[in-house]
Amino acid sequence: MTKYTHIITEQEDGFAVVRFYRPEALNALNMKLMEELVDALEFFDREDDVRAMIVTGDEKAFAAGADITEMAGASAVEMLVRDQFARWDRIRKIKKPLIAAVSGFALGGGCEVAMTCDIIVTSETAKFGQPEINIGVMPGAGGTQRLTRAVGKYKAMEMVLTGRMLTAEEAMRWGLVVKVVPVEAYLQEAKTLAREIASKPPVAVRLAKEAVLKAFDTTIEGGLEFERKNFYLLFASDDQKEGMKAFAEKRKPDWKGK
Ligand code: CAA
Repeated sequence: MTKYTHIITEQEDGFAVVRFYRPEALNALNMKLMEELVDALEFFDREDDVRAMIVTGDEKAFAAGADITEMAGASAVEMLVRDQFARWDRIRKIKKPLIAAVSGFALGGGCEVAMTCDIIVTSETAKFGQPEINIGVMPGAGGTQRLTRAVGKYKAMEMVLTGRMLTAEEAMRWGLVVKVVPVEAYLQEAKTLAREIASKPPVAVRLAKEAVLKAFDTTIEGGLEFERKNFYLLFASDDQKEGMKAFAEKRKPDWKGK
C-alpha cells in the first residue's frame, strides 16, 4: 500500500484501522489528509479479508475540523474549482461498515467525518461541535444534513447557530453515539465492535448497511421496497443457506462470504 504522511493504517484480523496523524494541528483535515483517508478507505473496501474499518484520531483530538489555514485566503471561485468537499463524498460510497472511534475534539469537518461513519463510539473526553459559525462560515461537509437527521431540527439548529460543543454524555443522550467509555478503552471498544461485525456474513452486512443508509434519502415506500429486494437477494448467497442450515442443526455457521 502507498506510504501516507497524515494517516497511519493498520490491519488486524478481519478489520482495518485508519488513524489521523497531524498531532501538531489537532488532526485538522487538510486536503492531503483527506486524499489519503479516502484512498485508504477505498483500498480496504476492496480487500476481501477486511470486513469493517475504524476511523480514529488520538486521545486529544479525533479531528478539529477542516484545515482553516488552508482555506482562509481562498476566494469563492477557488473554493468552487477546488471543490475539496467532493472528495469527502467518497466516504459515503464505502460499502463496508465504518466505525468512528472518537476521543477529544470532533469539530466541524471532524464531526462531519464521524457522522459519515456508520457507528460512533467515544471516550468520556469526546467533544462534538459544528463551530464554523465562530469563524464566519457554516458546516460545509454534511453537518447541516447529517446532524439534523441524527438529532433532529431543534438540537441541530442550536449546535450549528451557536457553535456549542456537546460532551460525550450529551452526544450519547442525543443518539449520536452508541457507547461512551473511559479514554483508555475507546479504541478497544471500537475494535471489539469491528471484530463482531467482521464475524458476520459479509454480503448480508453489506446489503444491510446499504438498506439502513437508504432510509435517509428515500420515501418509506421506496425504502421498504429496497429493503425487501435486498432481503430476497440474500437468498442467492451461500451464506443464507449456511446460516439457516446451521440454525436448524444447532451449530455455528461457517460463513464463506459468498
Ligand atoms: N485548522 C487548522 N489548524 C488548527 C485547527 C483547524 N481546524 N484546529 C486547531 N488547529 C491548530 C491550531 O492553530 C494550533 O496550531 P499552532 O500550535 O501552530 O498555533 C494547534 O492546532 C493546537 O490548537 P490550539 O492551540 O487552538 O488548541 P486549544 O486546545 O487551545 O484549542 C480548539 C482547541 C478549541 C479545538 C481550537 O483549536 C479550535 O477552535 N480549533 C478550530 C475548530 C474549528 O473551528 N473547526 C471548524 C473548521 S471549518 C470546517 O471544518 C468546515 C467544514 O464544515 C468542513
